[in-house]
Amino acid sequence: MNSSTAQKLAIQRTEKSRIDQVDFENLVFGNIFTDHMFECDYKDGGWHNPIIRPYGPLTISPAAKVFHYGQAVFEGMKAFKDDQGKVWLFRPEENYKRINKSCVRLAMPEFPRDVFFEALTTLLKMDKEWVIPGQGNSLYIRPFVIATQAGVGASPSTEYKFMILMSPAQAYYTGDVRVEIAEHFSRSANGGVGAAKAAGNYAAQFYPTNLAKDRGFQQIIWTDASSHEYLEEAGTMNVFFRVNDTLLTAPISDRILDGVTRKSVIALAKQDKIAVEERRVLVSEIVEAAKNGTLKEIFGAGTAAVISPVSAFSYQGQVYELKKPDDSYAAKFKQELMDIQYNRSEDPFGWRFEVC
Ligand SMILES: Cc1ncc(COP(=O)(O)O)c(C=O)c1O
Repeated sequence: MNSSTAQKLAIQRTEKSRIDQVDFENLVFGNIFTDHMFECDYKDGGWHNPIIRPYGPLTISPAAKVFHYGQAVFEGMKAFKDDQGKVWLFRPEENYKRINKSCVRLAMPEFPRDVFFEALTTLLKMDKEWVIPGQGNSLYIRPFVIATQAGVGASPSTEYKFMILMSPAQAYYTGDVRVEIAEHFSRSANGGVGAAKAAGNYAAQFYPTNLAKDRGFQQIIWTDASSHEYLEEAGTMNVFFRVNDTLLTAPISDRILDGVTRKSVIALAKQDKIAVEERRVLVSEIVEAAKNGTLKEIFGAGTAAVISPVSAFSYQGQVYELKKPDDSYAAKFKQELMDIQYNRSEDPFGWRFEVC
């Protein structure tokens, strides 16, 4: 299915950049987009007409299958500017592989590697000024694929659109996160689409997350759908539990997104000689560890916030508060990851990808 297009990437530049109109001191995450976007269409069994053009609206049939059957997948990645003004990506190959994995699960065609990297690097070079320097600042990159064939027959679309948008993102501190452990709702099930970055996975989380917010919690830690006894992941993050000095995290399965930040944290922990156990983690063992004082930290790992420390969790109506330890693993991994992302330290794993 990975049919390549031999066509050359077309480029239409904007006549006037919008960058002067942007208040970079007060950005709301994901609301402002750079001058250009990438677009490529799938039809008759192949990808055609790759083009970078000024960011702007699309014209799509209201019968397009994406609106009716939710055939849509996406990715989230970031570009960083170092102190010398160079732009870097972090492990982009992982996002490329994952969007194709998501496409396969949603019966959508895979996208050719050469076109993805040419589009991504060309777009970044064109909109380089939009990558704000400074620790924590970045350019959030959103590749996505939607089903564009007009027709409300419940079958896979024969036409698709692959796009890349980019949005400047400021360093932000959301505060420590209070989470609720899921006891009723589920994010994903065995054999389902939890391991894909399918748009519908996120739509399905909004309602239970709103209920948790009404009770004073920002996020839900999802548990397995069949028993609700095992901890899996949070809204847009994988989750780590530090019991004594060992890190526990759920193994990757068809219910869990194989996070790039998660696998990077595991690699750093191994390098730092911190014990990591990728295994099923019982809610009851974490509750027990919170009660007996051996639960030192819980933190989420994901591209948006890198590492988010959890300050409290709720389970069966009981709230367990967590004190920040002096030797926080969350803070240590966040700094180590950012030092690699911003080209401030060695990159022993080869994770940095130089763009321009
Ligand atoms: C459901 C879910 N889990 C985990 C993650 C973290 O993945 P990554 O570290 O690749 O951003 C994300 C964000 O992409 C997500 O949406």
